[in-house]
Amino acid sequence: MASEKGSSRISGFYRKSIEERVAIAAEKADLTAEEVELLGSGGGLTLDVADRMIENVVGTMAYPLGLAVNFRVNGRDRLVPMAIEEPSVVAAASNMARLMREGDGIEAGCTDPVMIGQIQILDVPDVGAAKKAVTEAKGELIELANQQDPVLVRFGGGARDIQLREVDSEAGKMLVLHLLVDCRDAMGANAVNTMCEVLAPVVEKLTEGRVLLRIISNLADNRLARAEAVVKKEAIGGEQVVDDIVSAWAFADADPYRAATHNKGIMNGIVAVALAFAQDHRALEAGAHAYAARDGRYRSLTTWSKNEDGDLVGVLEVPMAIGIVGGATRTHPVARLCLKLMGVSKATELAEVMASVGLAQNLGALRALVQEGIQHGHMRLHARNLVVMAGAEGDLVDRAVEALVESGEIRFDRAQEVVKRLKG
Ligand code: MEV
Repeated sequence: MASEKGSSRISGFYRKSIEERVAIAAEKADLTAEEVELLGSGGGLTLDVADRMIENVVGTMAYPLGLAVNFRVNGRDRLVPMAIEEPSVVAAASNMARLMREGDGIEAGCTDPVMIGQIQILDVPDVGAAKKAVTEAKGELIELANQQDPVLVRFGGGARDIQLREVDSEAGKMLVLHLLVDCRDAMGANAVNTMCEVLAPVVEKLTEGRVLLRIISNLADNRLARAEAVVKKEAIGGEQVVDDIVSAWAFADADPYRAATHNKGIMNGIVAVALAFAQDHRALEAGAHAYAARDGRYRSLTTWSKNEDGDLVGVLEVPMAIGIVGGATRTHPVARLCLKLMGVSKATELAEVMASVGLAQNLGALRALVQEGIQHGHMRLHARNLVVMAGAEGDLVDRAVEALVESGEIRFDRAQEVVKRLKG
């Protein structure tokens, strides 16, 4: 066994065969023989299940599922399933998680899982009177909302508050009611939308206006996840690298053209985990980018700074509207398996790990960008694929990768030559 049971620190995981990796994961997460088989089943979704998930099903489409290793979040080691088509992402997350655990690991936290439902109210004759009426009826409105989801209420969630906003728009002034709902372990879109639809007629009466939209907001700024890590300057390549990463972050924070790419890199990690857990990743993307623009300018979702010891300090704060009960997480067998692989029993735990992966992913990109450039790692991975395709196995793989990278010509014909030569 490469490491002790509860540890996610697995050196050379990427060098092992798929069978060896699965065996390690199975040992660590106590997977059954059926679960191991599911991992190798080409996506794990039968046509029958797929047909119940969406409309007009004609097939299924699989993504590679990788495990990021080395993550330690709030003192607990986690294997992190990531589904993604882009090379380097899983490797970068694992490498940066290793550097972060050499400090104190990653500290992460969450707000309560509170989502916002919006009710748009038009043609309100007297906004002051309407606000007063809604405020006075707040208790009854919250009670009516909670009657729609007794299960959520039983689990400690439910409607919490009502807020009113006046919005000036191209179509004139409108009143917008926000219903704040604690969704506990659910993502909550269904619960929130149902509650808003039920409240609408009552809100119309109270405001003497006309309700138009009743829908969840993906700017989930009451449902935030936060991850913070200190990376020792020696671990990242010295104080100059720390300074350069801070400058690279400052570029993103100041310039939307750079911030879009910087935040895309963060979402590489978050969305890959989201896909593995069959989450609504479009909701996460929408929430993250809207949050990045919350003070009127699109900025970095992370901050990177240097502390008094010269070490690098990174923080990511991002809306994290995810759930582990209901929805596709429960219907997709691989998503259920991922819960077991990561050892997650609460949505907030998953949210904290996802924020941690986003932070590590961002550091991976920044570190590469300020040092050797982003193509170097990609090309090494590409070289690895080529030499394996050219017939390299076992120890020969690493030697062939070195030789191919050194040759400066990372092409299949060169890989074939290199492998042939090394095989002697
Ligand atoms: C590529 O998928 C992501 C990066 O472009 C992110 C970044 O530039 O920070 C490497």
